[in-house]
Amino acid sequence: MRRLLPAALLFSACTAGGDAAELDESSQLPGGATTNTLLLGSNAFASPIANLLPEHEGDFFSGNSFFNAAWVSAPASTTARDGLGPLFNARSCSACHFKDGRAEPPGDGEDHLGLLLRLSVPGTGPEGGPVGHELYGGQLQPFALPDVPAEGTIEITSEELAGTYGDGVPYSLSAPTYTIADPGYGSLPDDLLISPRIAPIMVGLGLLEAIPEDAIRAAVDPDDLDDDGISGRVNEVWDHEAQTLRLGRFGWKADQPSVRQQVAGAFLGDMGITSPVFPAEECTEAQTGCRAAATGGTPEIEAEAFDKTVLYSSVLAVPVRRRFGTADVVSGEALFHAMGCASCHTPSWTTGAHPTLPELSGQRIWPYTDLLLHDMGDGLADRRPVFAADGREWKTPPLWGLGLVDDVNGHTRYLHDGRARALAEAILWHGGEAESAKEAFRTASAADRDAVLAFLESL
Ligand code: HEC
Ligand code: HEC
Repeated sequence: MRRLLPAALLFSACTAGGDAAELDESSQLPGGATTNTLLLGSNAFASPIANLLPEHEGDFFSGNSFFNAAWVSAPASTTARDGLGPLFNARSCSACHFKDGRAEPPGDGEDHLGLLLRLSVPGTGPEGGPVGHELYGGQLQPFALPDVPAEGTIEITSEELAGTYGDGVPYSLSAPTYTIADPGYGSLPDDLLISPRIAPIMVGLGLLEAIPEDAIRAAVDPDDLDDDGISGRVNEVWDHEAQTLRLGRFGWKADQPSVRQQVAGAFLGDMGITSPVFPAEECTEAQTGCRAAATGGTPEIEAEAFDKTVLYSSVLAVPVRRRFGTADVVSGEALFHAMGCASCHTPSWTTGAHPTLPELSGQRIWPYTDLLLHDMGDGLADRRPVFAADGREWKTPPLWGLGLVDDVNGHTRYLHDGRARALAEAILWHGGEAESAKEAFRTASAADRDAVLAFLESL
């Protein structure tokens, strides 16, 4: 059991640094009253919110079992968990979000769990979204049931890009290139658009969903009227149940409007399991084996079990800060502001009313994201547009929990495809609208760089 710092130690004030905010005591509990203060170490992301209502506990624990269970092909004796495939990326949610945490890119010869490739061809679909490839659909599925050809495997080649910090210390960034080997349904066109994505941490998602839409929209600055070099746009994405465009919040390009639709998309796209939101399998015309395969019911995950998985995915608790109030963390936070990081990584929000989970309502939270899209430069561009997001834009990801990825998942891989091997590399990849913030970090003294990293580690 960890203890919170006594309040008296918290106000050690800020060091030098521009518009640095006063150290705010409430930031020690990044999820407000929902924060997990008890369970750190390897289970740091697996805890339900601290204020979970007793009537939600049962659903949390059954949602947990649907998240962790391996699904099997239909027909099977376990009808609750059959319907895997015919095409799929993994058999369980937790295969990619291991311990509710974050995946890493595969090493040589390893299965491609946790890293997936979204696919499309140039153009815009009827609802304004990307157009899937006519044979392969919108996502590469490297696995299939027996008698159904798999779609192919991901090949990654990497090139080292050398750079130097302002003080002459060298560094190197690993730049990946993705190709699809062994295509199972015919050759792939040269203009295929590929977006690699790594499975992110699952904590705090219901809180992000409860940030009032008006507040997010109030921060957009598409034409950079405040002249800070940072624009920030919302993604507007298709909501399948409401049949309308809505603000996007989830996924690396804010491609999904809600935890519910993201979870339904994961069941269908990643595991081949139909749900109340997406009741039809995603087999293309050419995938006859896929179309002929047995189903595990219509839909394959029933409404009640689906809702529990959505609840589970909404109430995983954000962990308490570590080393809070120590000198390097405090000065790192001031530098984070001074370098301009907080222009996109908005430190704090207050949630509005969550429609079904009152525990998440009215919380002061510290996710360090504006949930907006930013041009991050050529180096990070995937060149694959999704609704309003163009091929150079990514959503600012929340930074909470980042310092615990190593404890939970045993790696330190960051950014949308896990290319960064350490936090410093993640910052050094920033370009586009984040170029001047990146340069401020790159040219800072080693002590200041370490302080920024200590701050990030404490989140
Ligand atoms: C093959 C690996 C894989 C599997 C299996 C998988 N996910 Fe994911 N998950 C991802 C990736 C990759 C993303 C980021 C998606 C994007 O950017 O489009 C993601 C994103 C999410 C998000 C949004 C997180 C955020 O911060 O925006 C939720 C919620 C989620 N997954 C839930 C689930 C659930 C529930 C399941 C099981 C039904 C599941 N996932 C299965 C890889 C996976
Ligand atoms: C213009 C907006 C912007 C600014 C300014 C900015 N970031 Fe980011 N940051 C992003 C976006 C967008 C991503 C995701 C990029 C990707 O995955 O390709 C990101 C990713 C990150 C990540 C990796 C997160 C993860 O989950 O993998 C870290 C760490 C980070 N930023 C820290 C910083 C620091 C420190 C600064 C200041 C030196 C900074 N950022 C400035 C927008 C910004």
